Amino acid sequence: MIKIAPSFLSADFRALEQQVRSVEDAGAEYIHLDIMDGHFVPNLTFGPLVVEAIRKTTDLVLDVHLMIAEPGKYIGDFADAGADILTVHMEVEEDVSTLLTRIREANVKAGATLRPSTPVKALFPLLPALDLALIMSVEPGFGGQAFMPESLDRVRALKAEIARRGLDVEIEIDGGIGVDNAREVVATGAQVLVSGSAIFRNGAIAENVRAIRRAAMGG
Ligand code: DX5
Ligand code: ZN
Repeated sequence: MIKIAPSFLSADFRALEQQVRSVEDAGAEYIHLDIMDGHFVPNLTFGPLVVEAIRKTTDLVLDVHLMIAEPGKYIGDFADAGADILTVHMEVEEDVSTLLTRIREANVKAGATLRPSTPVKALFPLLPALDLALIMSVEPGFGGQAFMPESLDRVRALKAEIARRGLDVEIEIDGGIGVDNAREVVATGAQVLVSGSAIFRNGAIAENVRAIRRAAMGG
């Protein structure tokens, strides 16, 4: 089953609860929350306080994407805030394998991801420690960027490796996803589609979620 993960980076923060309701009504499975620290990526967003506020509004899976230089410092805070999935970047200085163990010890699902320039093979040794593997299809940091088509080969390679080893790791894709490419990314092997600007751009949130799912299913 395909899952849709609206990225609240593009949400209107004046009306968070209302927008959570819209994505719930539209049947979205995850809420994708982008944490940026101004170091690992140039942009700055929000921290555990906002995750906790959203947690209080919904039972949807909170899928927290950590674009921060020292994720190890904050695993406990995000777990306490109610994150269901914590995804760390392979490019951080900390030992990612240790981070993943700590995330699971906090009873949170563990995810890992890569910048588009990091070889996808870097993820392979960690697959048994992962619940989710995220392929970034834009350079992390900002919403509204164009989908990088070379990401499709990365999804393919990841999917083949997961299948070859008989593992159960969900494949997520993030960046530049909308009705125009949803079908293609799903056909390639992505199971969770993150989408920010295509969902929140014109305020027709629920409609946009449904349209992306329809497109993903080939309708
Ligand atoms: C980018 C973030 C994405 C972003 C996607 O660094 O990880 O989650 O919100 O936004 P769109 O769908 O607009 O590319
Ligand atoms: Zn993201």
